[in-house]
Amino acid sequence: MKLNQASYKIFILTLLTFFASRHCEARSNLIRKDRLLQVAQGQLRNDDARSRTNFNKNWKFFLGDEPKAKNVNFNDAKWRKLTLPHDWSIEGRFDEKNPAKPEGGGLPTGIGWYRKEFIAPANFKNRLINIEFDGVYKNSEVWVNGQYLGKRPYGYISFAYEISKFLKEGKNIIAVKVDNSAQPDSRWYSGSGIYRNVWLTSTAKIAIEHWGTNVESTVVDIEKATGTAMLSIHNRLKNASGLPQAVNIVNTILDPEGKLVVKKESPQVNIDTIGRSILADVHISKAMLWSVDEPKQYKLITEIVQNKVVIDKKETLFGIRDARFDAKYGFYLNDQHLKIQGVCLHHDLGALGAAVNVRAMERQLEIMKAMGVNAIRTAHNPPAPEFLDLCDKMGFLVMDEAFDMWAKKKTKNDYHLNFPEWHKRDLEDMIKRDRNHPSIILWSIGNEIREQFDSTGIAITKELVGIVKNLDKSRPVISALTETDAKKNFIYQANALDIYGLNYNHKLYKDFPKNYPGVKFLATETTSALETRGFYDTADSIRRWPRDGKTKFTEGNKEWSASAYDNVSAYWGSTHEETLKEVKKYNYVSGIFVWTGFDYLGEPLPYPWPARSSYFGIVDLAGFPKDSYYLYQSEWTNKPVLHLLPHWNWTKGKSVEVWAYYNHADEVELYLNGKSLGKKSKQGDDLHVQWNVNYESGTLKAVSRKNGKEILISEVKTAGAPAKIELFADRKNIKADGTDLSYVTVRVLDKDGNLVPNADNLVNFKIEGNGVIAGVDNGFQASLEPFKANYRKAFHGLCLAILQSTEKAGTVKLTATSNGLVTSSITINTGK
Ligand code: GAL
Repeated sequence: MKLNQASYKIFILTLLTFFASRHCEARSNLIRKDRLLQVAQGQLRNDDARSRTNFNKNWKFFLGDEPKAKNVNFNDAKWRKLTLPHDWSIEGRFDEKNPAKPEGGGLPTGIGWYRKEFIAPANFKNRLINIEFDGVYKNSEVWVNGQYLGKRPYGYISFAYEISKFLKEGKNIIAVKVDNSAQPDSRWYSGSGIYRNVWLTSTAKIAIEHWGTNVESTVVDIEKATGTAMLSIHNRLKNASGLPQAVNIVNTILDPEGKLVVKKESPQVNIDTIGRSILADVHISKAMLWSVDEPKQYKLITEIVQNKVVIDKKETLFGIRDARFDAKYGFYLNDQHLKIQGVCLHHDLGALGAAVNVRAMERQLEIMKAMGVNAIRTAHNPPAPEFLDLCDKMGFLVMDEAFDMWAKKKTKNDYHLNFPEWHKRDLEDMIKRDRNHPSIILWSIGNEIREQFDSTGIAITKELVGIVKNLDKSRPVISALTETDAKKNFIYQANALDIYGLNYNHKLYKDFPKNYPGVKFLATETTSALETRGFYDTADSIRRWPRDGKTKFTEGNKEWSASAYDNVSAYWGSTHEETLKEVKKYNYVSGIFVWTGFDYLGEPLPYPWPARSSYFGIVDLAGFPKDSYYLYQSEWTNKPVLHLLPHWNWTKGKSVEVWAYYNHADEVELYLNGKSLGKKSKQGDDLHVQWNVNYESGTLKAVSRKNGKEILISEVKTAGAPAKIELFADRKNIKADGTDLSYVTVRVLDKDGNLVPNADNLVNFKIEGNGVIAGVDNGFQASLEPFKANYRKAFHGLCLAILQSTEKAGTVKLTATSNGLVTSSITINTGK
């Protein structure tokens, strides 16, 4: 080709322009790179590479819909000021007409708005700022400075938004709409609002992603509490700097005592602008294993280092343990056979509702631990993250459950509406958030899912199991099933689950190995016995309330109660003893999750309104054990137990069934007013002993003996008229942090100090000093008194006041008065 002169000039010019522009681009890239490096590093010192601050304070709240509240200039001066976590339902009044219905707890739901003014974190323009919500019930929508961040329908999932680009210098406004108005939406009480913690994190632009660290371990050569561990540490890095970056990753591991185990630095790695996963393998010999008795945790510190500067630093607690299910022998933890002694728990905290409080959760777990529980099923949803932290720390195994329904509904407005669009994201987020917890031994993809009954169950099961395995192959996946015919159970037919999880049907345990050869088995939900603390009603036979699926329930009593003799259950369930006997017999039953550890709000089966909370708990809603608590304690702990029931206030001549739960003994002798009524021993598979006694007032005394040697004595005395109040605090010293709690039990006593078993006196509370009453309760399932009040009627002699500290250290004094009774007061210290 021959160029004429003009064309030649143009050609030369174009070439020059091209090279000049490339040079400039390269130069400006260099400058940009330099600047971005500083940006990425954010002029950080080593210790402020990442900050995570609690974002709970100074919110404004409005109950009702106020669409304009998302706008920056909206005037919220009249709104209520509060600190999260917050559940507006629990503050409301019980009403049969509330759309959540008694099944949902009979409390108000609706729409609520939250707003908060805040100052953006330092240097935010050069940083990544994330707002993290641990859980909002439900349908939350979030705006920052009027800009829409998104919607999250599922009320039990944790989620985060990156907000850096919406922030400005000085004041910023975040607005959150919560919509729990479409009812009924749940088979139990959900709570409403921003009921879990909120956090604000600030990192460099190159940082470990939210939930981006995962430590997987395999253990070999297990000997007692140690073993050789191979760790795979995955860190998923984010790079929002706009340019590829070169960094080093340093993983440091500290042992449970805080001693350095290993520090491992990666060679320099390049992270492109999408991000990158970095894997490190670490070997630990003689690793200290996590177990339910010794819940030892290691700490991983991950640092991202660039040009010798630590630009991100994150700590992750994890545990090293080996968990395995066997079709023949059940469950093993660290090669030791361990029967799973579990309970199902809903998330509500009784009088505190759904609003997360770490001490309230810890108390629940302490009560469960003392009963001998070693496992919790988070029925039927992902729990608050702090709940899992507590399980790690206190030594509970956990079955972490994702859903109560898939695409087919259980109630009109439940999650089935969101399942098609959101299930993948929600399930992934649950696994990512939770997979470092040593307590979690099982992922459950659902409870009694309707799709088990039709062929759509096959594809969904496969998909969900795939989602889980993609993120965590180290734990088995289960689903809690009710269709007992395997051929008709489409979730089972998917052939994707690792363990057969059966709800109820305890009579089928016997033939399980015959019907399902080689299949691992866990009783994912059992029992559903019904009891009211302190209420005793003998029966010739065990009662099923309701009798079946068709007959209307008419058998109830005027006390709206169920007998605490362990002789009532739902027709699909059993008494505590009936199932416990079966579970004990077979090693291949890996264990059970009893429905439920605590009574919970909602699902008040079998009673209609005014019943509004469940009767299934082994412990009542206030945290007072029912008698069956001691059955489990006698079976599941090594602690010597002798528990006598019922109380000893009856009409003269009545024939009263007297029961004793005991262990560590071979006989129990019963005495009435010093006269022996005979010795009894458990026969065969008995779990208690029993006498029929013609009532006369006085003292009923049981003595347990082993080889003739006295082990324990238990006494109940006939109480006189209510005369005084006794207060007992579970903790007399609490933290002055505005969240810590002291649970004060109120006992109505006669003049001699005996608990008056049927006392229902109205108790008024006065509080002085640096504390507030966070809630009151008495455990009665059909009480319509509010939980947020300074009074409560006693129920079977007891009620409860929950004291909460303020941030001011000092003392808080609770005084309890009641007409005609001697007043009592108690002082709690609150300190920094
Ligand atoms: C089960 C169900 C639980 C609870 C229980 C009451 O079938 O999984 O959520 O409803 O029944 O007995």
